[in-house]
Amino acid sequence: MILLAIESTCDETGAAVLEGREPLGESVPRILSSVVSSQIGLHQRFGGVVPEIASRAHVRQVVPMIDEALKRAGVGLKDVGAVAVSTRPGLVGALVVGLTAAKALALALDVPLVAVDHLEGHLYACQLAHPDRRVFPCVGLVVSGGHSSLYACREPLDCAFLGGTIDDAAGEAFDKVASLLNLGYPGGPEIERAAKAGNPKAFAFPRSFLHEPRLAFSFSGLKTAVLYALRGPNQERGVVEPTPELTADLAASFQEAVVDILVAKARQALEQTGMERLGVGGGVAANGRFREKLGAAMDAMGVETFIPPLSLCTDNAAMAGVALLKLAAGRTADLDVDVAAGLVRP
Ligand code: KG4
Ligand code: ZN
Repeated sequence: MILLAIESTCDETGAAVLEGREPLGESVPRILSSVVSSQIGLHQRFGGVVPEIASRAHVRQVVPMIDEALKRAGVGLKDVGAVAVSTRPGLVGALVVGLTAAKALALALDVPLVAVDHLEGHLYACQLAHPDRRVFPCVGLVVSGGHSSLYACREPLDCAFLGGTIDDAAGEAFDKVASLLNLGYPGGPEIERAAKAGNPKAFAFPRSFLHEPRLAFSFSGLKTAVLYALRGPNQERGVVEPTPELTADLAASFQEAVVDILVAKARQALEQTGMERLGVGGGVAANGRFREKLGAAMDAMGVETFIPPLSLCTDNAAMAGVALLKLAAGRTADLDVDVAAGLVRP
């Protein structure tokens, strides 16, 4: 079964071709190709994703990406047996572009359409990256520009929401703090680079809910604490131009606080669910300090941790390969299916 998958939830237009073996759902599909057209260059000067610009870039890129994915996989449209697309959560104007392309293809090819949840895709990417290992059941942690959420996943399509952010997402906090420090966009890699020269203990920034059992995140207080530290004792003077040393210390101390929070909540989720594996997805999982501290904490707990390579961590269409499990379960979508902006919480 050849699956064509499409991703357009935010600022990456992705297409992928996967091959699933019959009986579907009993083995991990093989990724034949996965291509992504990133819009970072278009949003950079705004310091964040501009929804209308994102939608229009998807309109330009979605068909060329599908074409490219098919070519790289060495298959033609006639070989496609099903079409998958992320329909939630995300930017509505971005989602409708991918969904409309997917519907048109499913109708023209007379093949099933499968709607997938982007977050289930992020977690399934752990299984795609480790086809010979058992990833589920696991605690799932998605940390990206749009999400900071924990799930208890009995199976790839059975993920119960445990908790998430009450304000900013982890990646969003990196982006906003990078902007305060006059670093570039996206902020995560810039903060990580700046932090290398800094002292993570220079500022004792707040770590929300750290010692509470509640599985929730809050990063807006941390962001404000960075702003106050940046202004120094003369708060009313507004933001000052930080020295490279101050920038490095602020970046390192901020990064350490985010990492401590993410690691602590992952640990609590594992303790509370009694699960023994952790799957991680989203762009923040690229962070070296996060990987280091998470790895040490999970080793100490005897928890097996799965973090896909970067190309499967950040937004991509291959992760919509979870659609083959849905297809096996007969969970196809009608051609009038709609998108949803927010999380659908079971
Ligand atoms: O998963 P992703 O590519 O897109 C979304 O679905 O949001 O994640 C992008 C986010 C951005 O906020 C970016 O700043 C963050 O991931 N990020 C990082 C790093 N690389 C990307 N955050 C921390 N450290 C990094 N090295
Ligand atoms: Zn994502």
